[in-house]
Amino acid sequence: MPKPRKIRQRAANRRGERVKILISGRRIQRRIQAIAKQIRRDFPDEPLHLVSVLKGGVFFLTDLARSIAGEVSFDFIAVSSYGKATRSSGQVRLTRDLDSSIEGKTVILVEDILDTGMTLQYLLKLFQQRKPKHLRVAVLLDKPERRVAPVRADYLGFSIPNEFVVGYGLDYAERYRNLPYVGVLSLDSKLAKKAAEK
Ligand code: IMP
Ligand code: MG
Repeated sequence: MPKPRKIRQRAANRRGERVKILISGRRIQRRIQAIAKQIRRDFPDEPLHLVSVLKGGVFFLTDLARSIAGEVSFDFIAVSSYGKATRSSGQVRLTRDLDSSIEGKTVILVEDILDTGMTLQYLLKLFQQRKPKHLRVAVLLDKPERRVAPVRADYLGFSIPNEFVVGYGLDYAERYRNLPYVGVLSLDSKLAKKAAEK
């Protein structure tokens, strides 16, 4: 059955795709301020090294880094992504390593979303081997229903239902990352589904 159209929707009508706002940009920013304060409270005197997972975690990292008082540095790592699919293959592969060593540093791993947890499990194992002083995880979104690997975030933005979301860094086939909010993507026409399969 077609969904009612009166729900507030901005953006994205490409090939029948729809994005319905789930978390506004303003709510995201407010939550990030609170997380930044919490992180600084937990590590009052330490230089903090933020590591973001490309590309989805980039906006979260830049907003978080600017909200944390005191000394902050950052770096990036990349792992294999979903490509055009909306479901994880469960396979994690490192595609870009860090520029600098994390040994002895207080590291905050900054991720966009925790879904099955396979990505985070892989990264935590990799990072632990490199002997950071502390290792913590900040995740903007969590879909607890989907969890397969036994991992959790130390700092969490929002728990969300089991829906495919885009915006604020999260993509569908590399699109929608630039939305300032997080929205639920639905592919609600035969046309959209066909386009997505290509
Ligand atoms: P996990 O390994 O299953 O926890 O998946 C983590 C990665 O999958 C995230 O960093 C995202 O890149 C991607 N992902 C998971 N759920 C979504 C979603 O709803 N929208 C967009 N990307 C997602
Ligand atoms: Mg990601």
